[in-house]
Amino acid sequence: MSDDAMLVAQGVRKQYFRKGRDAARYFDAVRSTDVTLRRGELLELVGRSGSGKTTLLSMLAGLLTPTDGTVMFEGRDLYALDDAELSRVRNEHFGVVPQGQTPLADLTVLQNVCLPHCLYRDPGDVESRALGLLESLGIAELSECYPAELSGGEMRRMAIARALVCEPDVVFADEPTGDLDDENTRVVLQALRDVADAGAAVLLVTHEQSAASYADRTLRLSASQR
Ligand SMILES: Nc1ncnc2c1ncn2[C@@H]1O[C@H](COP(=O)(O)OP(=O)(O)OP(=O)(O)O)[C@@H](O)[C@H]1O
Ligand SMILES: [Mg+2]
Repeated sequence: MSDDAMLVAQGVRKQYFRKGRDAARYFDAVRSTDVTLRRGELLELVGRSGSGKTTLLSMLAGLLTPTDGTVMFEGRDLYALDDAELSRVRNEHFGVVPQGQTPLADLTVLQNVCLPHCLYRDPGDVESRALGLLESLGIAELSECYPAELSGGEMRRMAIARALVCEPDVVFADEPTGDLDDENTRVVLQALRDVADAGAAVLLVTHEQSAASYADRTLRLSASQR
């Protein structure tokens, strides 16, 4: 393992059971895969719809137990930790931008962004950092709005601010530019590049052609798995 390796996955595989029209069977949503995420590096994860990108990201982020294989974060085996320990590692070290929208409807944009920070820490100056992130993502003026008042792209940018507010060591972003225009796509890709340049490891799942120019490496999942 090289020194700058932060998260190392070996032989991770996810098997699911699917009922088809004629028969039901097991299939591999992700075949046995090795991935290393390094400090300062942005790894782009690409592949056709259904090729297993979200499934792989979820296993690496401590959100989905692999059928086989291990995920080590700074020497700790994520899936050997108990729930409380794993939640704590995720909160302290990981930031996730999920593919779907997951805001809490009764909290404002600013409260949604600050929430992960408030779970285990003294709130401190988190609001000013959250507002700074919202500003850099172009939605500071929406900080007191509720999620129902936001467009899809605004909600996506809120989710990015929420993933970054705890200054994570590893950022997992699942199609973070999926519903953004060209200008905001550039803003978000540059923000992820900046986070990597500041020393984090970034895993970026994307269908966006222009993302390659922000990435250090590309991992392609093939779709012929079932
Ligand atoms: N909970 C589940 N149970 C059964 N099958 C699943 C489950 N989650 C995902 N799958 C299947 O696993 C495969 C990989 O899904 P995944 O969401 O990882 O794809 P993806 O590459 O992220 O696709 P997209 O680009 O559309 O987001 C798909 O065929 C999907 O139908
Ligand atoms: Mg996906």
